[in-house]
Parts: sequence; C-alpha cells; structure tokens
Amino acid sequence: MGPEALPLGPYGGAAAAALLLWVVCVLCRRKRKTGEPPLINGWIPYLGKALLFRKDAFKFLLDQQKKLGDIFTVHIAGRYITFIMDPFQYVYVIRNSKQLEFHEFADKMASKTFDYPALSNVKFPDLKENLHRIYQYLQGKPLEIISDHMMKNLQDIFEWKCSQATDWETEKMYKFCCSVMFEASFVTLYGRVPAADGRKVISEIRDKFIKFDASFPYLAANIPIELLGATKKVRKELIHHFLLQNMTKWLGGSKVVQARQDIFEKYELLGDYDKAAHHFAFLWASVGNTIPATFWAMYYLLRHPEALAAVRDEIDHLLQSTGQKRGPTYNIHLTREQLDNLVYLESALNESLRMCSSSMNIRISQEDFVLKLEGDQEVSLRKGDWIALYPQILHMDPEVYEDPKKYKFDRYIENGKKKTTFYKAGRKLKYFLMPFGSGISMCPGRFLAMNEMKMFLFLLLAHFDVELGENKAVRLDNSRMGLGILLPDTDIAFRYKLRSLRN
Ligand code: HEM
Repeated sequence: MGPEALPLGPYGGAAAAALLLWVVCVLCRRKRKTGEPPLINGWIPYLGKALLFRKDAFKFLLDQQKKLGDIFTVHIAGRYITFIMDPFQYVYVIRNSKQLEFHEFADKMASKTFDYPALSNVKFPDLKENLHRIYQYLQGKPLEIISDHMMKNLQDIFEWKCSQATDWETEKMYKFCCSVMFEASFVTLYGRVPAADGRKVISEIRDKFIKFDASFPYLAANIPIELLGATKKVRKELIHHFLLQNMTKWLGGSKVVQARQDIFEKYELLGDYDKAAHHFAFLWASVGNTIPATFWAMYYLLRHPEALAAVRDEIDHLLQSTGQKRGPTYNIHLTREQLDNLVYLESALNESLRMCSSSMNIRISQEDFVLKLEGDQEVSLRKGDWIALYPQILHMDPEVYEDPKKYKFDRYIENGKKKTTFYKAGRKLKYFLMPFGSGISMCPGRFLAMNEMKMFLFLLLAHFDVELGENKAVRLDNSRMGLGILLPDTDIAFRYKLRSLRN
C-alpha cells in the first residue's frame, strides 16, 4: 500500500514519510548490550527523554532511580548519558580522569557560548594548560590579596550606595545583590573604569550581562544563537568592552586577569576579538553563579530570624574582639583566618548553597571500557558516552540531610566547630556538598567565591538592619537545572537601615 492509499488527508504523503522516518529511528535506536546499565531510550527520535529531563531533571532522575537503581543510561538530545546516582560511587568517576575526560566537552561548549576559537585548536599550543596554571592566583597568598581588594571594593560600594540610609530604604533583593556583587567583582578582577562616568560604564556592562545570561540555558542546550533574539548582538557588544584598547584604561585590576592577558598576547594567531571573548567568559564564570548564590544566602537569612540573629552575633563579636568599629568610614579588615573562623556565617552559606545549587558534573568516555566501581560492581561504557554526577540529588537526600527541604542554618556546625562528617546508611560520605563541581572540573574560583559572599553578608549585617519587605515565597526557577546555581523565580522587596552605632 503506497502512502497515497493511507487515510491521512491532503498531507498524507508528508505524514507517511514522517511515520516511516520515526519507525526507522525507533528500529535503529541503540540497544542495551551485556554489562551496560539499564537504557532509557524514549520514543521521540533524537530528543529521546530530553523534554522530560528539561522540564524537571531532579524529579526525572529520582523517578528513574526508583525504577532502575543507582546507575542507568538515558538518551537525551542525541547523547547517551549514564547517571551515577550513588554518592559512594562518585569517587570512581572523579578519580578516573584518564578514561573519563572533561576538558574537550567544556572547551566545545564554552567556545561556542562565548564565541572564541576552541582552546584545543592546534593553532594555540598549550593555551589550555597555560590558562589553567594561572588559577594559582586564586589560591594561597594571591587569594588573600584579591580578597582584600574585594573587601575594599565592596565597602566602597556599600558606602556610595547605602550610607544615606538613616531611615528605611526599600529595594528588590536580587537587583541589589546583582548590582553590588557585579560591580565589586568587576572592579576587583578587571579594575576601575577611570572615566567620570566609570560606574555608569560598569552598570551598562552589567545590564548587557543580565540579558546575555538570560539566554545562557538555551546556549548551553545547543540552541543556535541566531534563534535567540538580540543575544548575538548583546554578546558582541559585551565582548567589545573587553578589547585591549578598553582594558588598558582600567585601573587596579587583578593579577589573575593580568596573567591571562599576558598569556593571550603570546598567541599571535589569537585575534583581538577572541582575546576579548576569553575575558568576557571569565567574567561570566566569576559572577554568573556568585550573584544568585549571594541572593539565596541573603534571602534565607532574612526568612529565618534565628539564623539572622546568630550570624549577626558572630559578626558583632568578631568586630568587637578585633577592636574594629562599623561606622561611616567603612574600613573593616578581615584576615583569612578571621573569615575562616566565621562558622555560623559559613554554615548558613553552605546551607543555602546546598539548597540552590544544581550543577551536573559531566565526563566523556574516551573509549569503550569497563568502569570499575565499589564492591566488585562494574559497568560497560561506550566511547563518546557521557557519564554524569548530579549532586543536587545528594544535597536533597533525606538519608544524608534530615528534612532536606528545610533551611537549617547550623547544619554544618557540630559542637561549635565546622561539621564535615555526613553519613548515608551509616557510612561516612567523602562527598556531601558539591556546589563547585568535582575533581578535574572543580571551580578554581571557589575560595574567592566563598570569601566574596561572606564579605558581602558580613558588611550588610554589620552596617544595616535588614528585613524582608513583602511576604511572598520565592522559589527556585528550574530552567538552569544542571547548569549551576538556580535563579529565583521572582524578585522580592527588602528594607535596610543603618544600624545605630550604639548597639
Ligand atoms: C557561588 C559561586 C560559584 C559557583 C557555584 C561556581 C561553580 C562552578 C562549577 C560547578 C564549575 C565547573 C563547571 C563544570 O563542571 O562544567 C566552575 C568552573 C569555573 N569557575 Fe566557578 N563557581 C563560582 C564562582 C566562581 C568565581 C568567583 C570564579 C572566578 C573568579 C570562578 C571561575 C571559574 C572558572 C574559570 C571555571 C572554569 C574552570 C576550567 O577552566 O575548567 N567561579 N565553577
């Protein structure tokens, strides 16, 4: 029977062809081989389970785990992704950086998203290694220096923005966090824009950044930028801000950005636009997660008065014991040790990171091989398959964290000290909190990020009385699931007022 004989109406030919294509796709789709994990193909050619996964990855993965156990492979948008759900098995993925590669995948995604040529291009020998080497400027002594600069820049901004708040001022919380953290991070990393309207230039870059960032989940999902409205134009404008002729005018930038600049200058085949695109990518990495994470830390503190009181007590105590005064001059100084010893602040921050982070740790199998796991378990993987850890499941596991949906600001404190032992089924976990990724793909800015967020909260609570300005629930917006810190689904008003210097 030819297609014309099918009762399909005027579009019968096309419908029959589509049906035929679908049948071929279904017949040709991957079949599970011996030793491989259970396979979930889905019925939609190419997409597989992409729609369900994108709708709510967390729920989708939990549902599959209930049905199939701790290891399974899912067909998602043309890729086969094997999820390792048992946190005791994480280590076997994380330490196998030879067969399970990360950089090639990250390089492809980042170069496309931020519009620079891939680092792996033979025209740029050792560029990736050279860039990785300078992450040392985000650790040890250089970390102390850059953190000090951040503290000073944060205080400048608080003084400029808020020091007139002798009576209650109301602002939107996300907008506030974004404005303060963006400017402070920008000036700390890239320097001050010395023109009379320098602040305005940075706020223009911030506004474009927000527009670009809104398209980030689509770019990460491989949607062509041409389909994303003005995103391509905005990205180009953003990159242009980072051309050498602009950057050389900025004053007092960081060692890490200077070192990146020096490296790029050694590569003659890297164009001016490409270098600028690299700088823009680094800016995105440095604020894209820090801003929403700061928002959640502040939001949860304000929603929980007992947490706010405990953290503020700790801050006041530190100021008092170090003879420092909060006040109109805004020149508080915190050593690394002092920042490190703020156990309540750190615990509250970790607790909000536990609740709002959703990054998927991806590795790519370099060959067909058998991944050895704990207790003589093993699993066959094919070359090119993705292997994924999804720590949000661990963060929300009631066996690890009692009442996981509840914010408990002191969850990471035990006997007045940092708590670092967490258990599942009576066994101690090596990994229990992973907002910054793992192993070879772990965030090189994690120490700076923690310091920045602590300093923001420290200054806010030291100088101001702060409270929520409206009574509405803010929820996680799931559109970035798997990509880092989730954004809030709405902004919320808060009020602040300078604290009296007497109490
Ligand atoms: C709360 C704040 C932050 C979070 C949650 C976070 C999280 C992450 C995660 C999960 C990754 C790995 C991505 C992957 O596996 O594909 C990553 C990579 C990265 N992060 Fe962060 N990050 C934060 C702040 C920062 C800051 C402040 C900086 C720099 C100043 C930074 C610089 C980077 C860079 C450069 C990479 C890519 C590393 C590479 O070349 O492989 N991050 N971050």
